[in-house]
Amino acid sequence: MIDFKDITYNYSHQSGVYNIDLKIKKDEFCFLVGPTGSGKTTLLKLLYFDLFPHKGKVEILKYSSANIKKSSIHKVRKKIGVVFQDYKLLKQRTVYENIALPLHINGVGRKKIKQLVNEALDLTELSHYSKKFPNELSGGEQQRVCIARAIVKNPDVILADEPTGNLDPTTGHRILKILEQINKEGTCVVMATHNYKLISDKAYRIIELNEGKVVSG
Ligand SMILES: Nc1ncnc2c1ncn2[C@@H]1O[C@H](COP(=O)(O)OP(=O)(O)OP(=O)(O)O)[C@@H](O)[C@H]1O
Ligand SMILES: [Mg+2]
Repeated sequence: MIDFKDITYNYSHQSGVYNIDLKIKKDEFCFLVGPTGSGKTTLLKLLYFDLFPHKGKVEILKYSSANIKKSSIHKVRKKIGVVFQDYKLLKQRTVYENIALPLHINGVGRKKIKQLVNEALDLTELSHYSKKFPNELSGGEQQRVCIARAIVKNPDVILADEPTGNLDPTTGHRILKILEQINKEGTCVVMATHNYKLISDKAYRIIELNEGKVVSG
């Protein structure tokens, strides 16, 4: 499903990720942990082909960084839901419209969109908020909108970058529960976090990074 084969990506001569070898299976829920600057976001960006490695190759869902065409990148992104730490919600659109957008882009019909968006709103407990705008919501609520937007297209993989970063512990646990539920339904979840407390009692795989290298996991 996901295979990093001896990946190196340098932003400059002292920052980036180095010699990463990692395999993640299709039904896994795993955490990427490590101090700030250790390379978590960089690995996620390599997975959705926002960055391309300088050495080695990344494979995800049968696509490879070595030979994917620019014109095929949108195909793989259709199958990947990304939850960004800074939400990236459209301020002029309602919660419903934000969540529906990836489906519009994928050419899904209006009726089907309504059904899928309502399911995603339900799972993230946001049904009452569908007509609100992002700036009328708290951070935790906006983060749930991001998760709803990522899951609505029924992706094979969810990449979540610090989805609990700015949230109180209870809200953080709630977000984690939603992601666990999605994973149970068969979606691979890779979640970057430095919230060790949140995951310390979890039996999931933990991949630890330090200074751009995998140190365990
Ligand atoms: N656009 C960029 N240009 C130059 N250097 C960058 C860029 N983005 C990241 N870096 C550097 O690459 C390294 C890894 O950054 P990355 O964002 O992957 O870390 P991270 O583990 O996600 O950190 P955080 O926990 O703070 O989100 C850091 O040293 C960072 O300064
Ligand atoms: Mg980061």
